[in-house]
Amino acid sequence: MDRELNYNYRIVKQFTIATVVWGVIGMLAGVFIAAQLAWPALNFDIPWLTYGRLRPLHTNAVIFAFGICGLFATSYYVVQRTCQVRLFSDKLAEFTFWGWQLVLVSAAITLPMGFTRGKEYAELEWPIALLITVVWVTYAVVFFGTLIKRKVRHIYVANWFFGAYIIAVALLHVVNGASMPVSMWKSYSAYAGVQDAMIQWWYGHNAVGFILTAGYLGMVYYFIPKQAERPVYSYRLSIVHFWALIFTYMWAGPHHLHYTALPDWTQSIGMVFSLILLAPSWGGMINGIMTLSGAWHKLRSDPLLKFMIVSLSFYGMATFEGPMMSIKTVNALSHYTDWGIAHVHSGALGWVGFITMGSIYYLIPRMSGKREMWSVRLVDLHFWVATIGVVLYIASMWIAGVMQGLMWRAVNADGTLTYTFAEGVKATYPYYVIRFTGGLLYLAGMVMMAYNTFRTMRDGQPVEARIPVLATTHA
Ligand code: HEM
Ligand code: HEM
Repeated sequence: MDRELNYNYRIVKQFTIATVVWGVIGMLAGVFIAAQLAWPALNFDIPWLTYGRLRPLHTNAVIFAFGICGLFATSYYVVQRTCQVRLFSDKLAEFTFWGWQLVLVSAAITLPMGFTRGKEYAELEWPIALLITVVWVTYAVVFFGTLIKRKVRHIYVANWFFGAYIIAVALLHVVNGASMPVSMWKSYSAYAGVQDAMIQWWYGHNAVGFILTAGYLGMVYYFIPKQAERPVYSYRLSIVHFWALIFTYMWAGPHHLHYTALPDWTQSIGMVFSLILLAPSWGGMINGIMTLSGAWHKLRSDPLLKFMIVSLSFYGMATFEGPMMSIKTVNALSHYTDWGIAHVHSGALGWVGFITMGSIYYLIPRMSGKREMWSVRLVDLHFWVATIGVVLYIASMWIAGVMQGLMWRAVNADGTLTYTFAEGVKATYPYYVIRFTGGLLYLAGMVMMAYNTFRTMRDGQPVEARIPVLATTHA
């Protein structure tokens, strides 16, 4: 109990709140661009509101704001609890919070203004990219500094995943970010042509592997055993799939560049490594789900566990679909279509979103000294509304994607195209409306979470004796 006094929960709480707030903003942007795809007039002819500018705003807000704030919150919490020491430095941790918020606000201003490097998920111009580097190095110092001063010999597996994510993101950001500034808000990549594309998708795919996967596996290995009150199913498997996963991800990037100017053998390597990737991914999925052995009944009554276990099911689905899509002949059908968008969002909404929500729901009462969430029934409602939302989103985009792929390749007996491009767009329209509806439900769930968070912090039942001071102060 004394140890609790020594943890820095203030920083965890700050990032927890930021995750919820940015979640609402990022998903609102997603719903808005989904609406624009169905009803293009919604850009009102205002440059700031055009699809091309708001789309990167959505991806940056959900990945770097919602996603990474969630990872900051959970990694700072987990590293303290499992190392049984306070963070290496409160001041540096505080700097990472405000520094990261500055990055996010700068992104929210510059992207709609049209400032961009034009590289997907690496759009932010050089002054912001430099700030990211400084904040990230500080994050690494705080995280690894805490690991070094730990009071337990063993480094718990969740920290391996968080550590790999922190190191890999630093490497990816610096290599792909190399560019030549020509003015305050314009720079050009240091690479040219196909090398530039290769570096970009080495970056892009590993952003998926290390941000959208490894970091969240860190959450899986701490919060699922905690919430289920069961040990990890196989600790040995967790270590084996960790090393297999981080080794394999690094080589899979070329599957984003099938049938391009990239040499053919490079594309094939990307495909082969993507197929291999199924094994370590499913190792993690199975290990997480099986952690519930002997406690399956808890799924009936515990909405947090529902979020966590369903997230693993989506993880399994996305990591089965990904290797299939990396097969060149399948990619010939899926690439450029909405099938890709379905794949992204089964990973993003189902896996990343749900595991984050489950873990953040775990943290909110603990970080505000409350017994539980203000309304557990609202958490349950959130789960169901969001699940229906994801299903509507991905099912509509799968159908639309396969339909587009088939329409584009259909040819008449004389070799002419059966359908014009506009006919494909017209056929897609109903699916865009269904996707918008699914997105709206998912956003509604996030708004419920924000309201529940606010009420928990304000009106939740306090835990008096059990956790005496939830260290917003230095102990
Ligand atoms: C075994 C694991 C996975 C493999 C092999 C894989 C493979 C693929 C393939 C082949 C594509 C399509 C590339 C194209 O045609 O342009 C793709 C796109 C994508 N995947 Fe996965 N995927 C995996 C897991 C995941 C997970 C768990 C997520 C989490 C959200 C994810 C997020 C994405 C994103 C964001 C894109 C779109 C990239 C872009 O074009 O902007 N993937 N993936
Ligand atoms: C309310 C929920 C959401 C809605 C309605 C939504 C909607 C959209 C839309 C309309 C696009 C553009 C699709 C296109 O260009 O054809 C998009 C792209 C994307 N979204 Fe979302 N989104 C949501 C949540 C999320 C979340 C939570 C994440 C990540 C954690 C995410 C990650 C992405 C990514 C990575 C892309 C780019 C995909 C690519 O380039 O292939 N989205 N989203």
